[in-house]
Amino acid sequence: MLTRTPPKSSRSRARAIRHFLDIDQIPAGELRRIVDMGHAMKKAGKRVPKALRPKGIADAVLVMIFEKPSTRTRVSFDVAMRQLGGESIPLNHSDLQTNRGEPISDTARVLSRYVDAIMLRANKHETLLEYAKYATIPVINGLTDMSHPCQVIADIMTYEETHGPIKGGKVAWVGDGNNVAVSWMHAAVRFGFELRLACPPQLNPDAKVLEWARAEGGRVTLTDDAAEAVKGTDCVVTDTWVSMGQSDEKRRKQLLSPYAVDDDLMKRAAKGAIFMHCLPAYRGLEVSASVLDGPQSVVFDEAENRLHAQKAILAWCLGA
Ligand code: CP
Ligand code: NVA
Repeated sequence: MLTRTPPKSSRSRARAIRHFLDIDQIPAGELRRIVDMGHAMKKAGKRVPKALRPKGIADAVLVMIFEKPSTRTRVSFDVAMRQLGGESIPLNHSDLQTNRGEPISDTARVLSRYVDAIMLRANKHETLLEYAKYATIPVINGLTDMSHPCQVIADIMTYEETHGPIKGGKVAWVGDGNNVAVSWMHAAVRFGFELRLACPPQLNPDAKVLEWARAEGGRVTLTDDAAEAVKGTDCVVTDTWVSMGQSDEKRRKQLLSPYAVDDDLMKRAAKGAIFMHCLPAYRGLEVSASVLDGPQSVVFDEAENRLHAQKAILAWCLGA
C-alpha cells in the first residue's frame, strides 16, 4: 500500500514559523537575542562557529525576491547565507510567474517545497503579508513601503558599538516619516529607548504607528522642529527624501529642505553623538557631505552591520 509522506515543509515544522516581518511583531526578549547574536556574529567573523549556526544550515537555501533595487540587502543576505554555510537564490520580481499573474498564494506554497526561507523586498506591505500567510517557511521583510526592520536591527547594533545598550538611549529621526522611521518607532518601544521624530507635518509617519507606540508606553515624540528634536540626543538618523517608488520628488524636496542634517544641526546633539543613514545617501540634500563623511558618521559601520544582523536574523528564523 502506498502511504503519503508529508511534504518536507510541514514535516519539519513542529514549532511556529519564525517570520521576521516587523519589529513590533516580535517579543522584546527575542529581539534582544537577535541583536546579541548579531554582535556575536560580528566578533566571530567569516567562519561562523557551530554554536551560532542553526541546525541543518548546510542544506538550507534562501530565496530572495526583489521588486525594487538593492545593493546592501541583496549582497549582505547572500554573503550571510554563504558564511552561515547555506546558499541563496536572488530573483528579480520580473523573473517570476507572479509577474504574469500567478497568485502569491501559489508561489509561496511552491517555494516552500524547495527552499527554507524567503526574503522579500516588496513595493506593497500587503505582498509581504500575503507571502507570510501562505508560506510554510519563514518570510523575512527586506523592505516594504511601510517598514525596513532588518535595517533597524543593524542600526541598533551600530548604536551599541559606540554607546552601549540602547535601552534608555536618545535617538532623533530627522526628515521623512518613511518606512525606516516606522521600524525605528517599533524598535523604540521594543528596546526601550527615546525616539524624537522631526518631520514636516505633510510627511509625518503613519499616525497608527505613533498611537501604537504611545499605547505601549513608548517614549516616541513627534515635532516639526528638527533643532528641538536633536537637542541632547546620542544619535541623529536621517534617510533619503525620495524613497523608491515615490514620484512627488519636487514637492518632497521643498517640504524637506529645512530638515537637512548639517554641521549646525549635529552641534545640537550630545557630545560624542553619532550620525546614521541606511544609505543610499544623497550628499547636499538630506545630509551635508561634511556630516556624512565626517567624524560623527558611522554609516559604513552601519552598512557592514547589515551583514552581521542578517546572519543573526537568518539564524533566528531557521531555529537558533
Ligand atoms: N539600506 C538598504 O536597504 O540598502 P539597499 O537598498 O542597497 O539594500
Ligand atoms: N526609505 C528608503 C530606504 C532605502 C534603503 C526607500 O524605501 O527607498
